[in-house]
Amino acid sequence: MNDRRVRILAIETSCDETAAAVVCNGREVLSNVIYTQIPIHTEYGGVVPEIASRSHVEKIVPVVRKALKDADMTIEDADAVAVTYGPGLVGPLLVGVSCAKALAYAADKPLVGVHHIEGHISANYIEHPDLEPPYICLVVSGGHSHLVEVKDYGSYEIIARTRDDAAGEAFDKVARAIGLGYPGGPKIDAAAREGDPFAIDFPRGKVRDSEYDFSFSGVKSSVLNYINSCKMQDIEVNVNDVAASFQRSVVEVLTEHAMKAVDERGLHKFTLAGGVASNTALRESLKKACDERNVDFCVPSPVFCTDNAAMIGAAAYYEYISGVRDGLDLNAVPNLMLGDHR
Ligand code: KG4
Ligand code: ZN
Repeated sequence: MNDRRVRILAIETSCDETAAAVVCNGREVLSNVIYTQIPIHTEYGGVVPEIASRSHVEKIVPVVRKALKDADMTIEDADAVAVTYGPGLVGPLLVGVSCAKALAYAADKPLVGVHHIEGHISANYIEHPDLEPPYICLVVSGGHSHLVEVKDYGSYEIIARTRDDAAGEAFDKVARAIGLGYPGGPKIDAAAREGDPFAIDFPRGKVRDSEYDFSFSGVKSSVLNYINSCKMQDIEVNVNDVAASFQRSVVEVLTEHAMKAVDERGLHKFTLAGGVASNTALRESLKKACDERNVDFCVPSPVFCTDNAAMIGAAAYYEYISGVRDGLDLNAVPNLMLGDHR
């Protein structure tokens, strides 16, 4: 292991958070600055890509400056500049990539492009100093739902993915349908705490030809049908019960598939990551299932679950020490697949 202190300035702008951080040796966060655009997009009920791009342009320089200042350093002190180059929204990604390239060129620093999902997975290294591959990770965010075997740093086997909506997308769409607004995940999480998870029996999303893949569009449609049929019969909808019952359906499927992979692959470490990993019921359910099996369970604090740049700095460190360097031709790749990275 490297005994030098490698400090990486990391930048993340793939969606609606303008974020920069400095991370030392992939595990120690020296600064973590997040400017969230959520209040800007709330008015529209979801992320408006063009508005997101413009806001990133306005905020990226002050956010990077603050990250360096909080870490008590200048760009000259950084060993490398890392940036999310995909997947994500092309305009927002381009802002981060352009900024990182300009900094790397001006300060003559190595540039490391990071896959956003690899960042989410690596968020667990920050608060779990002993965590090392191999392990299984469930990554659930607004754009992705993947069950992954992390074989080594930078080496991933995708066990399952969603066939339609991502888990976070389903939370956001159901929240909108039941009038909770954007962003839906935290609002459903809060409403569900006041509701009965067994009030309504929404279906579990099953995929006929795969025992691992996810499908969340069915449960989302059945929530919409339930609400419409209540309206037609003039029955008042109990929002908290709908939220709790929908959440139970999603949490049960995610837990069942994740534990099937843990059991079959015989690995004794399991991690949870991505924005939906902040969900209280999901964290509790997976912790309980892992405890029953004597499997170590890791999940980041909520601030490292939703988009942030510290997780990009954690992932970048392992790329950096394995010799990965990108050129100034690094481009944003909106549909970058985990397997296509490197
Ligand atoms: O990882 P993330 O910040 O962005 C993407 O890479 O997509 O994830 C955002 C997603 C949103 O869909 C949001 O509703 C969901 O994570 N989310 C939650 C919770 N907090 C955020 N979903 C369920 N429960 C939560 N507490
Ligand atoms: Zn994300």
